[in-house]
Amino acid sequence: MFETLETASPDAIFAVVAAVRADPRPHKIDLSIGVYHDRARRSPIMAAVRDAERRLLESEATKSYLGLAGHERFNAGMTALVFGSAPRERIRAAQTPGGTGAVRVLAELIRRAKPDARMWLSAPTWPNHPVIMRAVGLETRNYPYFDPATNEVQADAMLKALGQAGPGDVVLLHGCCHNPTGAELAPEHWDAIADLAIARGFLPFVDFAYQGFGDGLEQDAAGVRKLAARVPQMVVAASCSKNFGLYRDRVGCAFVLGASPERADVMQGQLLSIARANYSSPPAHGAAVVGAILDDAALRADWQAELDDMRAHMLGLRRSLAAGLRVRSNSDRFDFVERHRGMFSLIGASPEQVARLRDEHAVHMLGSGRINIAGLPEAEVDRFADALITVLGR
Ligand code: LMR
Repeated sequence: MFETLETASPDAIFAVVAAVRADPRPHKIDLSIGVYHDRARRSPIMAAVRDAERRLLESEATKSYLGLAGHERFNAGMTALVFGSAPRERIRAAQTPGGTGAVRVLAELIRRAKPDARMWLSAPTWPNHPVIMRAVGLETRNYPYFDPATNEVQADAMLKALGQAGPGDVVLLHGCCHNPTGAELAPEHWDAIADLAIARGFLPFVDFAYQGFGDGLEQDAAGVRKLAARVPQMVVAASCSKNFGLYRDRVGCAFVLGASPERADVMQGQLLSIARANYSSPPAHGAAVVGAILDDAALRADWQAELDDMRAHMLGLRRSLAAGLRVRSNSDRFDFVERHRGMFSLIGASPEQVARLRDEHAVHMLGSGRINIAGLPEAEVDRFADALITVLGR
């Protein structure tokens, strides 16, 4: 049966995680996978999560199946978190196993609706996006996004390319905290994308995995909400891995926004039949925790305060690293580190330089030169800045 199978290519991110684990050097710095680390170098369980779990343990009465759409309380809370006070008649939600699960079932929904749809991905994008699209059988294209010369979004080129997309096309956007570049769309870019989606008829697909990690829960949702207020149809994949720290509990949500409430129902029904053929109903625990936090004023306030602190920590690390690199390079060449948002920035290292940083300085990052700023201990900012200048030059 399996004689014809060849060795699978290693995952671009989890392969680096394995290399970090295998590195015996005690001073190694792990800037690889997108996991938050606090000032004590832990990836903590958030206090509100612990409290909600305690309550859940006492009140949970059954382990019977959830429905195919998952927890209703979670779906309602997530709809409000993502879409704010926007009208909800045309929005439907389904709890999924992680943000990745949401991307996957939404991609399958698109493929089911239009097998020859083309998925436009930003250049570059999260390495798992093309992998998922290929697995589903969707053709992909790239649109220009990041300009390595300025370390910013190349908006003109992006909008020009998206002006070529049409009704059979899907444009995948990062809701905030672009992965891997850290370069953010400005409000006027979201307006221009909404204009184009309406004029050209393409479907916006927003991957929203870092709400609260950029500028704040509301600010980070501004782009998604701008689109939702204007376009006739869209889909959104949200993740609770980062902003609730629930990585291994696999908590995500797939949203469909239909042209009418009736079409939204049809889209959701198809989505649930796709879920049924994949994993049936989603896992209960993490989503119950999120639902409880979003629904309880005290838990929610506690969660938001901790999330605000996590964001402040990452922004502080960005400022320190940019300042350290400014002094060492005697230039503003690395100031983009401070301007970028979220966990990631492309630091401008070639694969060879990434290998040198690993071998000579015990610093691990993705082969693309993506760093996770949240992995950088405060006490190591100077050593990392020294290593970068040694390897990249001034
Ligand atoms: C990352 O990009 O590092 C995270 O989104 C984790 C993952 O699943 O790849």
